[in-house]
Amino acid sequence: MFAAAESIAPVAVSAAAVLQHANGPAAPLPPSPTLPDPLIFRNGDRVRNPHDWRRRRLEILATATAQMYGVAPSARGLRFEVMERDGDAFGGLALRRQVKLLFKGSSDGPSADLLLYVPRHVRRAPVILGLNFWGNQTVCSDPGIRLSERWVESGRNPFIDLSCVVDHRATERCRGIDARRWPVENILARGYGFATMYRGDIDPDVADGRVPSLRNAYPELQSRGDNFAAIGAWAWSLSRALDYLETDRAVNASRVAVFGWSRLGKAAVWAGASDPRFAAIISHESGAGGAKLFRRDVGEDIHRLNTHFPYWFCANFKAYDGMDRELPFDQHLILSCIAPRPLYIGSAAGDTLSDPEGEFTSGVLASRVYRFLGFDGLSTTTMPPVGRSIAGRVSYQIRPGGHDVLDYDWGKYLDFFDVWLKAGGHAALET
Ligand code: GCU
Repeated sequence: MFAAAESIAPVAVSAAAVLQHANGPAAPLPPSPTLPDPLIFRNGDRVRNPHDWRRRRLEILATATAQMYGVAPSARGLRFEVMERDGDAFGGLALRRQVKLLFKGSSDGPSADLLLYVPRHVRRAPVILGLNFWGNQTVCSDPGIRLSERWVESGRNPFIDLSCVVDHRATERCRGIDARRWPVENILARGYGFATMYRGDIDPDVADGRVPSLRNAYPELQSRGDNFAAIGAWAWSLSRALDYLETDRAVNASRVAVFGWSRLGKAAVWAGASDPRFAAIISHESGAGGAKLFRRDVGEDIHRLNTHFPYWFCANFKAYDGMDRELPFDQHLILSCIAPRPLYIGSAAGDTLSDPEGEFTSGVLASRVYRFLGFDGLSTTTMPPVGRSIAGRVSYQIRPGGHDVLDYDWGKYLDFFDVWLKAGGHAALET
């Protein structure tokens, strides 16, 4: 439980020192930025005890909502339509359920299809939940998965060949095309359920307003500076999936971890920060708007986010174009809102846009809040060499290679779940 607050000395964050330390002498930093301190309220008052921290956390979330992630609708009216209750998958290893989340309660309103596998050998399984990029049918070749009927991007991009997509619709040939990034059978064999939804059910991830999105289903949340935006919508949908999982007796909903890669990692981070029901969070190469600090001025910046993906964050965020150091928070504050729940930050050395050192440093800074609350955070402030990981309640890895999801990454994350998510792991989800 929470430690006595007075055992934690309030430390003024010397950002330059922490950043230099993490970065090593070889990589010079821009002149010392001032980083907001998670343990100081915006009015200058110190956070003195866990009760103060709960208020400070809400203050951080409110600021980040107003300036960056945007508001989200109420979940009132949400209904679930179970389309398949007990499908048999992977030769009996798991049961398959497919559930339509009806966000406004009706089948002609906005919806998303949740695919859930639960290992039959585990009673009330912990679950790993994550959004997928190209449709539920792409995560494995299970012929029982309903083909998405939504708009899907097509062609070939550096990450996948989508030539199976015809007229922006999935075809049978799309089954399993992204399976190498989702070791579903292995996840199930290790004792975890696996749940996923297609990002395009929630947001097509294009600026073109002609393709329907969940954002547009809430016009009353659009014409305002803190409008409902894509990253916020993805995060919100993860919480709605958790609402469903709470009703499913095959699942232990107090042990649901959220995983996300890249832009969907940004969504996973925001979902984990804003919804305390998520028991553990994996930020996989989430970069700018995820784990990475803006104030280091390394990798993707606010201007790039706003110009390439103007619909990801709310209109107020546009005011920070070229002013990354003026944002009233930085991403270590968002990670702090996850404390004291287990958090794994995964980086790749070649993923320079995501600034691995900025992701690591964010974890270092957020760890102060873990310690303040009486838990261990990252056990070092020194950036590990490529190929090494640091295990703990806040874990970090930097692997060789580029922006991708590899079996190697899942190996690390599953080991982390064995400790922190599984009943009987040493973790005590005592928080
Ligand atoms: C782009 C974008 C990143 C994002 C990535 C992805 O590279 O600039 O912020 O993380 O796409 O989602 O693959």
